[in-house]
Amino acid sequence: MDTKKPLVYSTHMIPNEGLSILNDNCVVKVSNEEGILPRSILLEEVRGVDGILCFLTDVIDREAMEAAGNQLRVISNFAAGYDNIDVEEATRRGILVTNTPGVLTETTADLAWALLMAIARRVVEGDKFVREGKFRGWDALLFLGTDVHGATLGIIGLGRIGQAMVRRAQGFNMKVIYYDQEPVLPEIESALNVSYRNLHNLLNEADFISIHVPLTDRTFHLIGEKELKLMKKESYLINTSRGPVIDEKALFKALQEEWIRGAALDVFENEPEVEPGLLSLDNVILVPHIGSASYKTRSRMAIIAAENLVSALRGEIPEYLVNPEVLRPKNE
Ligand code: GLV
Repeated sequence: MDTKKPLVYSTHMIPNEGLSILNDNCVVKVSNEEGILPRSILLEEVRGVDGILCFLTDVIDREAMEAAGNQLRVISNFAAGYDNIDVEEATRRGILVTNTPGVLTETTADLAWALLMAIARRVVEGDKFVREGKFRGWDALLFLGTDVHGATLGIIGLGRIGQAMVRRAQGFNMKVIYYDQEPVLPEIESALNVSYRNLHNLLNEADFISIHVPLTDRTFHLIGEKELKLMKKESYLINTSRGPVIDEKALFKALQEEWIRGAALDVFENEPEVEPGLLSLDNVILVPHIGSASYKTRSRMAIIAAENLVSALRGEIPEYLVNPEVLRPKNE
């Protein structure tokens, strides 16, 4: 073993393009666990490493940093969202935290768009119907759905992915309204042809609502029973952000009792668990957190996550540093 190279733990196998960058620069331990890494293995394997490359399913909190030890210099998340990492604690310990934003913007918006189209036009239900041998020929009343073109799209969170959704909506001649913590700059509003609404009004007005906010204390259960009741009866909710932004039990009730017409979810409140009632409903589409899952994007994410990690270990400033405050002298 080359003792001069830093020691890195990758909590999961990542695409080769990223792995080879790690292997060229570090001594790498890669977990061979599939699915969620058991906590006990994580705590054991991080011991003594200089860097951790982790997935959004790995909780890297104070206990994990403590288990790693004082030599830990960087935590590189293989994701744009980093709610799985206690960034404040990392900063306090002088550990750099990095992520992979940007590269997955269009890919995630593609999935959100696919879900929106699929729930509106009942694609998944129709597929099941045909496979079950129930199709008896064209019928004027068969699988009626909702027009996407010309409808009103409500975007919650007008960041990179929210804006990518707006560009898709333009091709469908939709009216787009948005809600965010604050309105964006007027130049951006007019370039995108979108207008701001408070959450209450957005919920009241939109035919389709797509969520694109990070998970924080403020966005936890942003959509609960009260908000679902404000939505139109014929409207749809799409979530490709983080599961806990929606109160999943309330959503189940809303779908079962038809307060809204449908929902499509890529993310769940307690992944990989899904609120059991949702599994038997036809007016919801469920996919397994695949927003960024295209061949190209996952390989670019691997490269970025590896480069972030390697540059931090070289003492450079990684391109996608989440906590730049870590670089400031402590007494500042
Ligand atoms: C995926 O959900 C990500 O945040 O990258």
